[in-house]
Amino acid sequence: MELKSLDSTKKFAEAVAINLKLNDFILLSGNLGTGKTTFTRFLIQYLQQKNQRPLEEIVSPTFNIVQYYDLGKNLKVAHYDFYRLKKEKEILNIGLFDTAKDFINIIEWPEIAMNSFNDFLQIKFTYDPDKDLRSLEFNGKGKWLGFDIND
Ligand SMILES: Nc1ncnc2c1ncn2[C@@H]1O[C@H](COP(=O)(O)OP(=O)(O)OP(=O)(O)O)[C@@H](O)[C@H]1O
Ligand SMILES: [Mg+2]
Repeated sequence: MELKSLDSTKKFAEAVAINLKLNDFILLSGNLGTGKTTFTRFLIQYLQQKNQRPLEEIVSPTFNIVQYYDLGKNLKVAHYDFYRLKKEKEILNIGLFDTAKDFINIIEWPEIAMNSFNDFLQIKFTYDPDKDLRSLEFNGKGKWLGFDIND
C-alpha cells in the first residue's frame, strides 16, 4: 500500500485503530524516519478524540523505551520503541508481557523480540527518498492473518 501524504498515514492509522482491542500487538518495522511514530501519533490521537480525551502530545519513546496513554473507559495504549534494546531478555525487564493484556501494545523496532509474539499485525514501513515514495506491507499472525486494507 502506498502512502501519498501525511493524510494517507492518518487515514490508515484510523482504519487500524477502530479494529484494536486490549492485548493486541501492532509491530512497526522499517528504517529510521520511515513514519512509524507518525503512524502511532495519528492512531493514539484518533482514540483520544473518539473517547473525548484531551489530545496529549505523542512523543517518541526512543529514550524511555515505553510511553503509556490512558484513554479512559479502561482503554490504555503502551507505545514501545525497542531501538535501544540489545538483548531479547531486556523486554522482560520492561514488563511488556506482564502488562500486555491491559493495553493496546504498539512496538517500534520489534525485531529483537519477534520470537515472543504469536498474534500480531506487523506493518513494514519503507521510504524511498529519491522518489519520495512511502509504502507499507503487512504481515499478520493469529487474528491478523491475511490482514489487508483497501487503499
Ligand atoms: N506519510 C508521510 N508523508 C510525509 N512525511 C511523513 C509521512 N510519514 C512520516 N513522515 C515524516 O517523516 C519523518 C520521520 O517520521 P517518524 O518519526 O514517524 O519516523 P520513525 O519511523 O518513527 O523513525 P525512527 O525509526 O527514528 O523512530 C517525520 O518528519 C514525519 O513527519
Ligand atoms: Mg519512531
